[in-house]
Amino acid sequence: MVPELEKATVRIKHPERVMGIIRSIKEQGMSKLQVISDFDMTLSRFGCNGRRCPTSHNILDNSHVVSEDGKKKLKDLLHYYYPIEIDPDRTLEEKRPLMVEWWSRAHDLLSQQKILKGDIAQIVRESDVMLRDGFNELFDQLHEYDVPLFIFSAGVGDILEEIIRQANVFHPNVNVVSNYMDFDDNGVLRCFKGPLIHTYNKNNTVLQGTEYFQQLSTRTSIILLGDSMGDLTMADGVPSVENILKIGFLNDKVEEQRGKYLDAYDIVLESDETLDVVNGILRYILIET
Ligand code: TMP
Ligand code: MG
Repeated sequence: MVPELEKATVRIKHPERVMGIIRSIKEQGMSKLQVISDFDMTLSRFGCNGRRCPTSHNILDNSHVVSEDGKKKLKDLLHYYYPIEIDPDRTLEEKRPLMVEWWSRAHDLLSQQKILKGDIAQIVRESDVMLRDGFNELFDQLHEYDVPLFIFSAGVGDILEEIIRQANVFHPNVNVVSNYMDFDDNGVLRCFKGPLIHTYNKNNTVLQGTEYFQQLSTRTSIILLGDSMGDLTMADGVPSVENILKIGFLNDKVEEQRGKYLDAYDIVLESDETLDVVNGILRYILIET
């Protein structure tokens, strides 16, 4: 059915159940399908040749527009809060206030740097960001078959939009909800617009009032793509979900996190920097008869 599921990176706790979901999504047809995806470390790569790739926040942090002092402070925040973000021994309730703290402090620091709207394109061009291998096929296939792609990101919306624009895949079926920068009349960053989206509030609470989400209520088959335990709630706002297939990229602390990921995601992709499995499933759903 989907040969890509034989890849060595694929782990599935309940294979029969997964095949059942994929079959029902296909039966329902592409007019019922939507893809809901995280951005950082899900559509973008976690690493390349042993080096970490940047998140949309890191792209700003590492850029020439942030002072050395600002860089150091942002790095200190990352080193303090990232281990908390992925700590398998802490509950989401414990993590939530700490994530609000991290995002608020990072956004305050960035807002002091006089970042210009006009510099964003160059900042992205000069960064080491990479989309996962196979991104072209993913974006182009969804566009061709008119399947909405909803990107729900706790990263920086202006940056990730520029990444997909520069990759020539920002098609009209793509919609983004994320943290957007607020620029003053001179195009200087003054703050971030609310509501704040962090790793562990990607759910209804921040989607209420976004009219786009309402329009998708008839798309009752969902393929959800994420890399964090916080991404699992991204589809909670869809009123009547009939089939949902959750695919999780397990990028970091693979051994420690495996159990939790296998319980939570239908398909777990371990240290897999490609979109091969997602593309294989979509090819089966959309194309094969
Ligand atoms: P997301 O992938 O769930 O949208 O979350 C965005 C990622 O951004 C999350 O893994 C933490 C990371 N991040 C940074 O790298 N630097 C920062 O300053 C902040 C606030 C988040
Ligand atoms: Mg992510």
